[in-house]
Amino acid sequence: MANNEYEQRRQAVAEGLAGRKLDALLVSFSPNLRYLSGFTGSSGALLILPGKSILLTDPRYQIQAPQESTCQVRIVKGPLVIGLLAAVKKLGVKRIGYEPARMTCDFFDAVKSQLSLRASLEPVHGWIEELRMVKSADELELIRRSVDTNSRAFEQTIARIKPGIKEQDLAAELEYRMRRLGAEKPAFETIVATGVRSALPHAQPTGARLTAGDLVVVDMGAFQGGYASDMTRMLSVGPPNAKVKRMYRAVLEAQLAAIDAVRAGAKTARIDSAARKVLKGHGLDKVFIHSTGHGLGLEIHEPPRLGKHDKARLRAGMAITIEPGAYVEGFGGVRIEDTVIVTEKGCEILTPTSKDLYIV
Ligand code: GLY
Ligand code: MN
Repeated sequence: MANNEYEQRRQAVAEGLAGRKLDALLVSFSPNLRYLSGFTGSSGALLILPGKSILLTDPRYQIQAPQESTCQVRIVKGPLVIGLLAAVKKLGVKRIGYEPARMTCDFFDAVKSQLSLRASLEPVHGWIEELRMVKSADELELIRRSVDTNSRAFEQTIARIKPGIKEQDLAAELEYRMRRLGAEKPAFETIVATGVRSALPHAQPTGARLTAGDLVVVDMGAFQGGYASDMTRMLSVGPPNAKVKRMYRAVLEAQLAAIDAVRAGAKTARIDSAARKVLKGHGLDKVFIHSTGHGLGLEIHEPPRLGKHDKARLRAGMAITIEPGAYVEGFGGVRIEDTVIVTEKGCEILTPTSKDLYIV
């Protein structure tokens, strides 16, 4: 990402301070910190004010921080809040916005006790998350790459596996491939669930083996260049029976209907209802127990959410997942998930992997 993109983001925040009656914004949550500064370290605090941004971090990052960020870097030996206090004293800022949803109580208490004589702390809700929702061209490129890596890791792995493999081993293989193809790490704990366990939407892989007649859910994502991808595909160990085929077709129809409803201006709940309506027609709406999708970017789950009650409207440039599912206890579950980019007229499906039921 070009440095001037981070500078433009900080500039936009600095320009928004006065309207929120703030002198500065304090950001310590890693994805927001990275979004605004480019800094990828695990610990830091960013203070943005008009014409100046100060990035405080510890000596582990004294070489890395100035390489990654054009903010003024202050290396703080000891608690970051001591460095923060020094900066606040020097700059004379009086009203500092902070992100209550994104800060530990401990850090907040430390900041408050150090700064209370100098400045007031004012809660700010969802400002940076709102900026992050619509992706820039460079961000979309990174998401494309992440999606591509994820799909290639899936395809390479599935081509090699045999019935009898353990869920855990399949998950490990997918993650290994993903890293060999350029990902930094999985975007979440890879889900591989076979047989009746496929009815658990967020199953953790176990020692269970893929056995003839099983339906298998594989839900995987990569982080590459800091950006997430997310995909779910289904496997059948041996030929699927008629009930599995019916359920698979119903979920696929729901997924395609939801994708068809995506366009700039559409209400997020409308995308969800498009999927839900199809599943209802197949008697499966009661077993669709999560939302239809979510935004993704520097986090695997970020706004907007595409659920029954979500009122936000889609905007061109949002990256979202579309992932309806149906989960029948004692039988199994089906979920099909793609990563897509919202456009003015519809969407661009990034996930290149075929949506056929894979027979292994
Ligand atoms: N793919 C995992 C999730 O969206 O929760
Ligand atoms: Mn997902």
